[in-house]
This record gives sequence, C-alpha cells and structure tokens, in this order.
Amino acid sequence: MHHPDGLSHLVDEGIIDAVHARLMSGKEATVYVVERQGYLGAAKVYKPRDERTFKKTASYVEGRNQTRNSRDRRAMHNKSSYGRHLIEESWQDMEFQALRAAFDAGVRVPEPYFLYENVLFMELVVDKSGAPASRVADFTFTAEEAQRLHLELFLQVKTLLGSGRIHGDLSAYNVLLAAKGPTLIDMPQVVDVAGNNNARQILRRDLRNVTEHLARFDARLLRFADCGDGLFHHLQRGTLESIAGPEVSASQPRGGGGGGGRRGRDAERERVGRSKTRPRGATFSRRR
Ligand SMILES: Nc1ncnc2c1ncn2[C@@H]1O[C@H](COP(=O)(O)OP(=O)(O)O)[C@@H](O)[C@H]1O
Ligand SMILES: [Mg+2]
Repeated sequence: MHHPDGLSHLVDEGIIDAVHARLMSGKEATVYVVERQGYLGAAKVYKPRDERTFKKTASYVEGRNQTRNSRDRRAMHNKSSYGRHLIEESWQDMEFQALRAAFDAGVRVPEPYFLYENVLFMELVVDKSGAPASRVADFTFTAEEAQRLHLELFLQVKTLLGSGRIHGDLSAYNVLLAAKGPTLIDMPQVVDVAGNNNARQILRRDLRNVTEHLARFDARLLRFADCGDGLFHHLQRGTLESIAGPEVSASQPRGGGGGGGRRGRDAERERVGRSKTRPRGATFSRRR
C-alpha cells in the first residue's frame, strides 16, 4: 500500500493512534503532530536524502561506524543501495542519540521517545498556549527580549558543550520558543568535541548564527559574535562551569588552542573527556 504521508501505516500497525496535523516540511524532514496512548507528540519523518547532502552525510557518518563489520563499511563507502540504507539509518540514529544525550545532560531539547523505521518520535514542543512552538526566526523582539534570549541560548549551548557536544547547525530556525524557554531542535549533525578537529570553528559558527540574528533587534549583541571562542577556551581549561554569560566568555583571549600551551593537546582531550563523565544538571537549572 502507498502511504504518501509516510505515517498512516504506523497508525495501521498500532504504533501511533492518530496523526493530527502536519507542522512543517523542511528540506530534511516533515514533522507531524501525532497522538499515542492519549498523549501528543511530534513525529519527524526523514526524507530520502539527495545526492549532495548524501555525500556530506556519508563522510560524516562513516567515521562513526568503526564498529560495523567490513562488509557494511564497504557498502557505506561505495554507497550501494544497501550502503545507502545503512547511512540513512545511522543518520536518523544519530539524531535520536544526540537528543537523548542532550536531554540527559539537562539541555532544553525535545525528549526523544523512540525511532521506528524512518520516523523519530519525540516530545511536542509547545508554547504558553499549548500550541506547537514557533521558531525564533518567526518573532520580532525588543532589545531587552533579544538580550535575554541570547543569554538563555548561550547557556544552553554551554550546557551542551559541557556534555562534550556542539549542535552543528544552530540557527534561528532550529530553536523553538517554548513555554519552558528556548528549545534546541534538529540535531542529526551534532558534533563530538573530542573527535572533531574543527570543533572550535563549528561552535563559533553556531553561536555567531544566533548572535547575528538576535543582533537585528539589539546591535549591541554583535560584540558577542565570537563568544564561541571564549567558551571553547574555557572548555579546554576545564573552567566552563564558571561562565555565567557571553560577557565573561567574550573577554577571554582568543586564538591559540593551548590554554597557555603548557600541557598540549592530549591534556585538552583528556579534560574534554573527563567533563563528559561528570554528573550533569546539578549546576544549571533547566528552566529560567
Ligand atoms: N519536537 C518538536 N515540537 C514541535 N515542533 C517541532 C518539533 N520538531 C520539529 N518541529 C517543527 O518542525 C520543523 C522542522 O524540524 P527540524 O527538526 O528542524 O527538521 P529539518 O531538518 O527539516 O529542518 C521545525 O522548524 C519546527 O517548526
Ligand atoms: Mg531544521
């Protein structure tokens, strides 16, 4: 049977009880409001990836599949149809796991429920009236609101960084303004700090994206355009938890990833790794 919306067969199979609305259809996925066991949730149905994104994804995912057997790895490398299937699966799996890890670390993200075929089920992010939350990009703000939102986002990014990860595609389109506060979504490309040599640049780009967007409402925020650098600096020094906002972070020296160069790269790696195992959520509350 053909299922144009990609979800009706899940109703037939009893995985969900009903599909209520289609929220948004982006280039990667379509998101629906669904009901399961009396509760509303969001269902993200991934689209088949086109050639270009596919290439990007493939190289990204490959490095993360060292545990696969050589036949699977070869298939993924050659992008045979079986290999493509594996890559698609890894990509979806990655978002599920990224959300799980972020949620557990106390970052405000939708709680992921489960993955079924090409569908990710998660918490429906709602605004104060209970309606699906809109994106930061959909609002205008006063200067004061923009500043407060910037600080809140900065702290979310910091908490995520403390758990060893960077969003990787942060923008005003991937943050929802929820009743609980700004909520990060859309994380299949999440970056592991310890395993990525470009982590600093990616963090800087993420924070620059949201900072420049919010600076449309308060140009003074532009002084924080590179606050990601300062944040990364503190991560390397193991002093991340002392950062209360982008001010402190932006005033830190930039450049040079050496923390004074005393201990070198291995020591930094070790610190990043260690921060991962520290209990999370004790220092920062999840609500404003
Ligand atoms: N958990 C959720 N709750 C409410 N709305 C969501 C949720 N996840 C996604 N959306 C909506 O669906 C849109 C697309 O989701 P996103 O994960 O960003 O996919 P894409 O890869 O297509 O950008 C979002 O901009 C948002 O409006
Ligand atoms: Mg998106």
